[in-house]
Amino acid sequence: MGSDALTLPRAALDITDKAAVRDFMRRERPRAVINCAAWTAVDAAESQVEACFAVNARAVESLAEACDEVGSLLVQVSTDYVFGADHARATPYREDDPTGPLNTYGNSKLAGEVAARQCDRHIIARTCGLYSAGPHGPVRGRNFLDTMLVLAASRPEVSVVTDQICTPSYVPHVARGILTLLEAGATGTFHVTNGGWTSWHGLASELFKQAGLSTAVRPITSRDYPSAIERPGYSVLATEKLVKTADTRLSDWQEGVADYLRSR
Ligand SMILES: NC(=O)c1ccc[n+]([C@@H]2O[C@H](COP(=O)([O-])OP(=O)(O)OC[C@H]3O[C@@H](n4cnc5c(N)ncnc54)[C@H](OP(=O)(O)O)[C@@H]3O)[C@@H](O)[C@H]2O)c1
Repeated sequence: MGSDALTLPRAALDITDKAAVRDFMRRERPRAVINCAAWTAVDAAESQVEACFAVNARAVESLAEACDEVGSLLVQVSTDYVFGADHARATPYREDDPTGPLNTYGNSKLAGEVAARQCDRHIIARTCGLYSAGPHGPVRGRNFLDTMLVLAASRPEVSVVTDQICTPSYVPHVARGILTLLEAGATGTFHVTNGGWTSWHGLASELFKQAGLSTAVRPITSRDYPSAIERPGYSVLATEKLVKTADTRLSDWQEGVADYLRSR
């Protein structure tokens, strides 16, 4: 599993095109579909609710239907943003804890989970704070770590929030976790993140330390960095179910940073 995977960019298959999804599934009849496609523009989702739900929820309904028709297992990649409404939370969320998104993106991903559960055989893999050094990394300059390294090259100090706590997770580690679940024949909802937790301030500090940079990281709070939408203050995901089911524990988030720096 994994070595014979087919990767499909949007140009090859737009998942909002129900007929194209159905035709593709009838033709290829894959053992499993791992749906990584999503509307991930969290801020823009507030003004483009329909477009966001079309990708994150309605397209997942089509995928679930098409998977059922040919007997494929559907892996729906989901997010810590299905949580957040419990403002007093200070312990990791378990898979069966009540959800409560704070924004449109979170609501759309939660609707995507509901849609994926319509598929007879499914895995919902909730993850968190993703970054990698792949084509979505340095080339497109889109992840937090790339941005920090670019800023560090031109500034003596960067300001980063301390009041959003989660588990930054390195994509190749998460991908391995999902493959291990598939190989174990697991189904259901799982949290798949690196171990431990930190704030974005903690992540930037660790990144600069490991990269040997002297750039200072000034602690600020979300109030100093106004945004039109609310993000979870605490969204650490408990991963014991992954450990118990697939007999695998992803390494701690600091090792993800080390692997990311090595692979740049
Ligand atoms: N980033 C995080 O911190 C994070 C945290 C937790 C969970 N997740 C989840 O992890 C998954 C991957 O996130 P990411 O951050 O890697 O997202 P990303 O960089 O925005 O990538 C999303 C991909 O989906 C594609 N896509 C969008 N609409 C599509 C459509 N209609 N048909 C086919 N492909 C489409 C995009 O194609 P284009 O490039 O052509 O737009 C892009 O390649 C998502 O399910 C997300 O919700 C992400």
